[in-house]
Amino acid sequence: MVSDRFSPISWQTGELTLLDQRSLPKQKTFLKIRTVDETIFAIREMAVRGAPAIAITGVFGLALGAKAKSGEVSPGELTDLLSKVMESRPTAVNLSYALKEAEIRAKQVLVWEDVFSIWETLALELMQNDLSDNLNLGKNGLSLFSESKSEVHIVTHCNTGALATAGHGTALGVIRSLRDAGKKVIVYADETRPFLQGSRLTAFEMMEEGIECYIITDGMSGWLFNNRKIDAVLVGCDRVAANGDTANKIGTYTLAISAKQHEVPFYVCATKDSFDLKLETGSSIPIEMRREEEVTRFDFLKDGKGDIFLPEGMTAPIGARALNPSFDITPHSFIRNFITEFGCFPPEEIRTRLRK
Ligand code: MRU
Repeated sequence: MVSDRFSPISWQTGELTLLDQRSLPKQKTFLKIRTVDETIFAIREMAVRGAPAIAITGVFGLALGAKAKSGEVSPGELTDLLSKVMESRPTAVNLSYALKEAEIRAKQVLVWEDVFSIWETLALELMQNDLSDNLNLGKNGLSLFSESKSEVHIVTHCNTGALATAGHGTALGVIRSLRDAGKKVIVYADETRPFLQGSRLTAFEMMEEGIECYIITDGMSGWLFNNRKIDAVLVGCDRVAANGDTANKIGTYTLAISAKQHEVPFYVCATKDSFDLKLETGSSIPIEMRREEEVTRFDFLKDGKGDIFLPEGMTAPIGARALNPSFDITPHSFIRNFITEFGCFPPEEIRTRLRK
């Protein structure tokens, strides 16, 4: 069953509507996006987030950029448009693949009106493909869980659900597919400091679907593995290097260490658009550093437009410094299997599986 309750992205005749994920779970606020700059702002401020959703939104943003122009395409303007969208968030590879495809298709046309329709078509195509990839990925994930087991306990990190994709989700997609296959699924959602994608978004999605879900703080996984029978950890990813090293939301690596120590299988859910075979290892994956206020304040979820931060919003001493890397790299040796739309396989099979 596909969740139609959370469509983070919708498009009507040249207007992009985004479910503002910063306001969840308190309220469902929708942003009407009419320009490429508004799109970049929404991606940067994480009103829309999750690697596949960022890529789709980025291409709709390009289309809005093309719509604002007319007449003959100048290669300089085309490159500027592509590069400014590319700079919005650097870690997930999905956006750069989508923009590369947008560039290739735009080279075949001469006027901005045609670029607009080509990019609009591409964005809609990306949405459709992502949804069908997620559904296949979810089904493939079932093979890793014993058929005879009626109850499964899963730990997940960040949010990889319908909110992060075109629908269904990757790691949450497997969870949905397990539920649809008749299993009782119990989910433990890492809170995912500092942006709280786990407690704000994953718990929200699971509750809307009636899937039993417990939020844990990111430091609780050791206790959890010692005190509950956990069947698997399922996470998503933002970029996977050729050797299987995987960039995902900050805290994923710590969770993987904990899972390995407790011999709990650690699975990374990825579509083909997550693999970056140009990179041999994870050490060259760019890691986005975000602003310190996300770590030092509880009221960091403001709209980023010249917010005034008051001392009352702080969870740290005034003037305290913080580090805020948004992603980390989980070495391939911690990953039992990748779950993809084209099958499940260990890190050492990446090159052969992706060549097919
Ligand atoms: O910073 P975010 O919220 O965009 O990070 C999201 C993640 O790390 C997800 O795990 C990843 O993008 C996969 S979503 C299917």
